[in-house]
Amino acid sequence: MRLVTNLEVNENMKAEELKYTISILEDTDNIPFDLLLLADPSRKTIGDYLSRGICYVCKTETDEIVGVYVLIKTRPNTMELVNVAVKESMQGKGIGKKLVLHAISVAKKEGAKTLEIGTGNSSIQQLALYQKCGFRIVGVDRDFFVRHYDEEIVENGIVCRDMIRLSMDL
Ligand code: COA
Repeated sequence: MRLVTNLEVNENMKAEELKYTISILEDTDNIPFDLLLLADPSRKTIGDYLSRGICYVCKTETDEIVGVYVLIKTRPNTMELVNVAVKESMQGKGIGKKLVLHAISVAKKEGAKTLEIGTGNSSIQQLALYQKCGFRIVGVDRDFFVRHYDEEIVENGIVCRDMIRLSMDL
């Protein structure tokens, strides 16, 4: 399995009604770290994901990057969607859902049979979004965030301790 480029597969899916375009990040000098850090507070982890995967960005008509995700090959026939994030002022407009559905379509075209994603036990919105897009919960990595992050993370009044693993058969 090999990652394809924009030219080989037309993944510049237009979100017509929103006038946004999703495409591979070509300009590696312009990595949207501000957005990536919304999804993961660890620059080291983000750097690791970027080196192992392909970064897709959602741009407005004026070329402003308002969304991002990274798709990684993890095991044979398996890909993982990481670092999905939407600019704070643009959240709640459907961009996150379009990014996730776009990633599913790219993974299918790549020939992956399984797409995985993980999020914190406290990430209510993300759990809703991923399940609405067809992911099913397959496991819990207990105390993942306690083991891997120095600072305590609290969201929605809930301490983020466990990684909820979700997966989708493609
Ligand atoms: N209960 C039920 N559904 C909920 C919900 C809740 N509490 N909160 C959100 N949703 C649903 C929305 O209704 C929508 O579904 P719909 O289209 O069927 O109505 C869906 O979740 C997503 O909405 P959308 O507008 O596409 O999301 P977004 O553009 O705001 O992006 C994130 C979602 C998570 C990417 C965005 O909030 C973000 O960047 N968060 C910070 C980074 C982050 O946490 N990334 C994920 C790391 S695991």
